[in-house]
Amino acid sequence: MAWVFINQIKFYLHDDETLLAGLLRVGVTTPYQCQEGYCGTCKLKHQKLTLSSSVSYVHEPLLMLADDEILPCCCRVSGVLSLTLSQSILEDLS
Ligand code: FES
Repeated sequence: MAWVFINQIKFYLHDDETLLAGLLRVGVTTPYQCQEGYCGTCKLKHQKLTLSSSVSYVHEPLLMLADDEILPCCCRVSGVLSLTLSQSILEDLS
């Protein structure tokens, strides 16, 4: 299980749940398309909040990612992760 923080929101991910599935489950309408790691539509910025936190990929992404970028559609998280969402997504949450 992992914990994900987005501004005022905190939620957990099940062990076999992708980050995108968790975001959609809690009502965060982040954009996505291919769900296989090649279009980049779902790309978000993140911070690992503990040294033991890690990100692994169900499908190895075809995109080049910076160290602080993540593809929620095809990754699994362990530990604690903080996400940075675009202003438009944040406005949808309020
Ligand atoms: S939805 Fe295409 S890379 Fe995530």
